[in-house]
Amino acid sequence: MEAVILAGGLGTRMRPLTYTTPKPLLPLLNKPLVMHIIDSFPERVDEVVLAANYKIDKLREYFEEVEMEREVHVVDEPEPRGTGGAVKNVEDHINDTFFVVNGDIVSDIDLGNFLKYHERRGGVGTLSAWEVEDPSEFGVMDLEKGGRIKRFQEKPGLEEAFSNVINAGHYILEPEVLDMIPSDRKVSIEREIFPRLLSDGLFGYEFEGYWIDCGRPESLFEAQRTLLDVMSEKVMVGDSSVEGKLKGHVSVGDDCELEACEVIDSIIFDGVKIGSGSLIKDSILGNDVVVEEDVRIESSIVADGSYVEDGKIIKDKNLKPEEEYK
Ligand code: GTP
Repeated sequence: MEAVILAGGLGTRMRPLTYTTPKPLLPLLNKPLVMHIIDSFPERVDEVVLAANYKIDKLREYFEEVEMEREVHVVDEPEPRGTGGAVKNVEDHINDTFFVVNGDIVSDIDLGNFLKYHERRGGVGTLSAWEVEDPSEFGVMDLEKGGRIKRFQEKPGLEEAFSNVINAGHYILEPEVLDMIPSDRKVSIEREIFPRLLSDGLFGYEFEGYWIDCGRPESLFEAQRTLLDVMSEKVMVGDSSVEGKLKGHVSVGDDCELEACEVIDSIIFDGVKIGSGSLIKDSILGNDVVVEEDVRIESSIVADGSYVEDGKIIKDKNLKPEEEYK
């Protein structure tokens, strides 16, 4: 069975981290977001197709090196074609019923049960459904008792929203859906294709647990907290040397050297060096960032490869990659 992961977006809201790293490769507990998704597919999925575009070379490089039982194809889109166009662009890889998953969703949906539900309902497609308090930023679905979707609403005002169940970004589709997607232009599968499939039988699969749309840096913190809490852990440290204190929810990637510093509620990618006396709080340090001694970084992002000089104070800043901050 094939699974398509939508992995070609620019990730503009996740800048400055996505200037150098495509969003699906951003680490969450030292594992790229996309690997959290791949590892959650049921055994029946033996082929994964990454619909990619932005920073595709980085994705190719990663999947050439990583060892995996499943076959992974990283397929290029001539230009970003939207969520529907992306699926159409990989249709040669699809033979039967298939999954489509947004590449930035972190959740504990049981995709095996989702598939069984789809097969029992026998519709042309099934969408994961998640209940939120405020649906005004999302695609809203109105579900009948048996799970059939009656109608959609895109980013409704709080007053007009007819439910608080939203499209949670996992789909199981029958191959005939591909015939409805035009191949020569940008298409949004949610806005353009799904509403046209309602009369053919489109279902919603509600699940509980956690669901985080990792579209913004704040959501990486939320995802880290949630996963660590689920594991009853507070910190996760890769293959690194850590002399400093880690407090709150913290992850430290591989090949980092943390001297006698303090890191609180933060995310440290791979290859980072932090000098003695420095404090990192509520912040993200990208790959290979070097922070010298007695630096204070608070509520900030320092993107890949940047250097922060001794004694510097950085607060509420998003710092670009590969720069020297003196
Ligand atoms: P923003 O620029 O911050 O909105 O992020 P984004 O570009 O990732 O867009 P969004 O969060 O709406 O995308 C949801 C998922 O669909 C992400 O996994 C994206 O990688 C993916 N995606 C969005 N647009 C495209 C596209 O045109 N082509 C492909 N292949 N994937 C896309």
